Amino acid sequence: MYNSKIIGLGFYVPDNIVTNHDLSKIMDTNDEWIQERTGIKQRHWIPEGSEDTSAVMGAKAAKIAIERAGLTKDDIDFIVFATLSPDYYFPGCGVQIQDILEMPTIGALDVRNQCSGFVYALATADQFIKTGMYKNILVIGAEYHSNGLDKTTRGRGVTVIFGDGAGACVLTRTEDNTKGILSSHLHSEGKYAEKLTVLGPSIKHWVPEILSSTEEDTSYFPYMDGTFVFKNAVVRFSEVIIEGLTANKLDAKDIDLFIPHQANLRISQFVQSKFKLRDDQVYNNIMEYGNTTAASIIIALSEAWEKGKIKDNDLVVLAAFGSGFTWGSVIIRW
Ligand code: ACO
Repeated sequence: MYNSKIIGLGFYVPDNIVTNHDLSKIMDTNDEWIQERTGIKQRHWIPEGSEDTSAVMGAKAAKIAIERAGLTKDDIDFIVFATLSPDYYFPGCGVQIQDILEMPTIGALDVRNQCSGFVYALATADQFIKTGMYKNILVIGAEYHSNGLDKTTRGRGVTVIFGDGAGACVLTRTEDNTKGILSSHLHSEGKYAEKLTVLGPSIKHWVPEILSSTEEDTSYFPYMDGTFVFKNAVVRFSEVIIEGLTANKLDAKDIDLFIPHQANLRISQFVQSKFKLRDDQVYNNIMEYGNTTAASIIIALSEAWEKGKIKDNDLVVLAAFGSGFTWGSVIIRW
């Protein structure tokens, strides 16, 4: 069995910054409410007329990651792409990356696990490398939320939270089993699928039905039972971190850097205090980018790495919770 390790990281967000004040001009909300509940100060939203999409942003992040890995696109053996906001209903964004980056006809897999998407994608790529099937895998998380949000007061409970962006990494084979991804831990609880969801259009509720509805049909906007999600998130985050640490005979004190999915700063702070982690042991950037679901962990990991916050041999813990419900953790020895 081989091990896998990250050798290149990159992220891309659109230049267009939307502050809480900007939102307060289009809906009944305010900076104080948003910061107090979520910690978010601003988010990046793709502006009208831009060519950016989840696939295009993913490709931009991927180019940076491949270059930093010291590889070329032709060295990549497989693509794993996580998003809940794909360019097309089908096919998924993975094949678009193959095309945009002009890669050979390698396999491309899409992961549909929302806020846990990157953790699931990384865990999947890790398995392909551990078994020896592939050597270099491009793992991408990207989201284009802004075009699908209800930007009226009706949608304010959800819309203020989400941002656009993408991150990518190259995972490669190593024969040093003390380094790289030590373990990953994945869970789901589908009975809560409708607690955080976009219900339409779906095959059983297709576009003509939505358009011809006599009452206003908002099934194509995200719905979230915020309080319920919050309560489950703090429990599942904690469980899956403990599971990951225990599997590796480690303790919270051993964590050098914890990178939680950037769901909500209050959730991250709850988890930080539960594990008694110092501020320098946790990396948050939701204040600047909002919640970018499948992109959030890889954007944060890339940014933390760029800022020199990750050193050789550090224990890096990634954990996520989100729609599905799905949740998971990945324990990495850098
Ligand atoms: N601005 C101003 N007021 C608002 C806004 C807003 N953007 N959104 C909601 N309100 C109002 C509501 O209408 C409500 O008013 P009312 O009492 O007159 O009815 C009041 O504020 C309280 O609304 P709640 O929805 O109860 O607000 P809550 O305190 O629960 O906070 C929040 C909402 C921030 C979403 C919270 O539930 C939460 O953090 N949930 C966790 C879910 C989460 O973080 N999801 C992220 C995506 S999922 C994931 O990544 C895991």
